[in-house]
Amino acid sequence: MDKRKIGMWLYKNGGGEKIAKKIIKKLKERDIEVVNDVNLRHAIAKNKNIIHNGVKLNKLDLFFSYNAGEQTQYQMYLYQALNRIIPMINSYDAFALTEDKFQTNFLLKNHGIPTPSFKLCHRDDSHYLKEIIKKWDKMVYKPTDGWGGVGLTKIESEANLDMLLPFLNQMDLRFFYVEKFIDYDKTDFRIDIVDGQFVSCYGRKAGGGDWRTNVTSGGSVFVREANDEVVELALKATEVCGLDIAGVDIIYDREKEQYVVLEVNGIPAFATPEQEKMGLDFNDKKIELIVDLIDRKTKKKKEK
Ligand SMILES: Nc1ncnc2c1ncn2[C@@H]1O[C@H](COP(=O)(O)OP(=O)(O)O)[C@@H](O)[C@H]1O
Ligand SMILES: [Mg+2]
Repeated sequence: MDKRKIGMWLYKNGGGEKIAKKIIKKLKERDIEVVNDVNLRHAIAKNKNIIHNGVKLNKLDLFFSYNAGEQTQYQMYLYQALNRIIPMINSYDAFALTEDKFQTNFLLKNHGIPTPSFKLCHRDDSHYLKEIIKKWDKMVYKPTDGWGGVGLTKIESEANLDMLLPFLNQMDLRFFYVEKFIDYDKTDFRIDIVDGQFVSCYGRKAGGGDWRTNVTSGGSVFVREANDEVVELALKATEVCGLDIAGVDIIYDREKEQYVVLEVNGIPAFATPEQEKMGLDFNDKKIELIVDLIDRKTKKKKEK
């Protein structure tokens, strides 16, 4: 068997560099070589090859892509092409799906997974929003491809909507995506899954009067025990989305008295050094499961 070789691109902030080193070391112990820092932004496609720094990426046994903040359209375009030729973690299809909140929610709903109620309508049909707010009382406008709570707008009344609509109409939107505002306790569960296995759970709590739990919106992370129900839900959502690695965000709907999946993330962060000090100690387990997964997926390919 030829020596296995994979490409990797992992975020560097928040302790990412140290995580990458650990992964590389563990893969080396299994005789798997890693070409690190393969940023598709700097790759070019030439006929049948996608070349980065002299390396033909299409000849690699696998590509592990784990960098959330920097996925440009160009990178996604090459990600898609490359994944037709070699295995990727996460797969392009699963990753692209979870980058879009409507596509994800639509799929989850069709598999019976509880999520917030949502509606999507064409930009010229904003009159629907009026009917919806009457029915729902409160709703959240969301960009379908956002992150970090950015651009989310809570709409609390019809008057509120009337004020907002001129602004929304001014923006060059294709459609409106809105969710029913869930009555919850301003905390969530983040459940990490790798390769169909539960890795870890922690919680986030919204800060300073904000209704969003995102750390970028002032939220804070806390140690939180999982329960069977949230783990089961996270495993199911991950499977439906087809993700090898996922971070599933779950909140408890106090009105319907059930857990709902709020978001599925294809590049959930490892615990930062500060969070590790707080007691979030799942990084080693997560690394081990990722290394096992890469080992298995590359073995399969070589045997073919
Ligand atoms: N339908 C909703 N009802 C109540 N709160 C919500 C709803 N959707 C989102 N939130 C709050 O806003 C935060 C960000 O929403 P999310 O859909 O995860 O977008 P992002 O990708 O920006 O994190 C969530 O963590 C949650 O606290
Ligand atoms: Mg979120």
